Amino acid sequence: MNSSNNENQRSKSWKVLTSLAESSTTDSIQRYFAKDPERLERFSVDLPGIYLDFSKNRLNIEIFNALIGLAQASDLEGQKAAMFRGDPINKTERLPALHTALRDPQSKVEVKGESIADKIAEQLLRMQKCSDAVRSGEWKGATGKSITDVVNIGIGGSDLGPRFVCEALREFSKPGIRTHFISNVDGAEIDTLLASLEAQSTLFITCSKTFTTHETLLNTNKAIQWLQKQLNIEKQQGTSHFLAVTARPAAANEFGFDTSNIFETWDWVGGRYSLWSAIGLSISISIGHDNFARLLKGAKAMDDHFLHSPLDRNMPVILALIGIWYNNFLDTESIAIVPYCERLRLLPSYLQQLDMESNGKSTSIHELEMVGTTAPIVWGQTGTNGQHAFFQLLHQGTKLIPVDFVGIVKENLGDEYQHKVLLANMIAQAAALMTGDASDNPHLHYPGDKPSNTLLLDELSPASLGMLIALYEHKVFTQGIIWGINSFDQWGVELGKRLATNLLDGSSGDALDPSTKELIRRSGLEN
Ligand code: F6P
Repeated sequence: MNSSNNENQRSKSWKVLTSLAESSTTDSIQRYFAKDPERLERFSVDLPGIYLDFSKNRLNIEIFNALIGLAQASDLEGQKAAMFRGDPINKTERLPALHTALRDPQSKVEVKGESIADKIAEQLLRMQKCSDAVRSGEWKGATGKSITDVVNIGIGGSDLGPRFVCEALREFSKPGIRTHFISNVDGAEIDTLLASLEAQSTLFITCSKTFTTHETLLNTNKAIQWLQKQLNIEKQQGTSHFLAVTARPAAANEFGFDTSNIFETWDWVGGRYSLWSAIGLSISISIGHDNFARLLKGAKAMDDHFLHSPLDRNMPVILALIGIWYNNFLDTESIAIVPYCERLRLLPSYLQQLDMESNGKSTSIHELEMVGTTAPIVWGQTGTNGQHAFFQLLHQGTKLIPVDFVGIVKENLGDEYQHKVLLANMIAQAAALMTGDASDNPHLHYPGDKPSNTLLLDELSPASLGMLIALYEHKVFTQGIIWGINSFDQWGVELGKRLATNLLDGSSGDALDPSTKELIRRSGLEN
């Protein structure tokens, strides 16, 4: 199909969906169930390790088919192939987005005429050697002690991925090696952590793709000074305590890192998609490199599913289209992510960056102002905790908020009975949101018809977590394609960084507004 045909098809699909949204107001999820005995079968996808039930949504087969039509008209198939092939789909930075190659040992992708498979394999091997040495005790600090504490210093994508995965997979972590994460420039964070550590057995990993991030470099300097003081040594003697992961090895080198201690990621891997690269070194040390490889394998299984399954059986595509239905046609503003598993506590934060930094944009790839709305506000926390905080609003509030529930079937760490209680709560909440409860007393009335998806992972393993993360990555990508935006840049974060630098070096001048000036004065930043 040529591009003007595509455009016609897209606006046709958009119109059909707009009119379906108008007519759907007289229907309900429960009526959809009553009308279609095969609804659950149609509206669920069962993959090895992960099951998606999307039947509790405000859509019937007609709406679903129209959404699939929208994806087809948006050339999703062509764009998917372009991403996996390594085309420079990140147009503003003229870069490919090749996180999928990181988990594909057979990748044939070339960047600037060079194969990348060997580069990836080389870094993975270095990670494995480092991880094995730290875990076995062979890696020694300056005084000959083995490592007991690993501190990842990074922020955004150089923090959230490794932090989330290490916490989620703590069942697999090596006893005797603790991992810590320092991200914020708030000195209280790092000072408190350092006070609890023994310098002789601490290994710091500075993760920064650009090696320019202020927070990360400040915290790294703090760590270096602390270690030198604690061990009473010169910088040179402490090198075995400091590793760096970056796409700018020369900058890390100039900062003072030994060449042999610098691991590489690349500019063709987005920060929020980088946990699969050496940015995941803390994960490999924590759970072992074999488990890190299983994480990659799980993600690869989801990549294959995304690439090859028909759109109407394709988990990431389905989640993306459901999101678009609510966001663009039923005018919802946010989506709640509610994992019923404390170890997935950071899933909402992780998805916040993935989704909002990727798709929180209002300019299309063709540089025309977007007409529709793009990324939703992503928020949430674990159940059952959320039930005692914000579920009141989900059930009886004035806003429609679709929920993604995530549950784990087999629990290896917790008590069997408590796990049953946990899952029963999740399933009950999804049902209660949909069915509601009629009462003559308006305060006791639950209107129901509140939508949700439920994702069930067989277990919380490296492979299933890899699948889950890749599922959301591809959901976000699909939505970006349909909205016509570049999901792989993040220009919106630059202005604030620039102004903060100007405030600190006093170069803001008189151009500042009265409110900002007064806040500077009151905060003591003038001096
Ligand atoms: O400020 C946003 C951001 O650029 C993210 O996209 C990125 O993950 C984070 O900062 C950290 O960047 P870096 O890895 O270059 O230090």
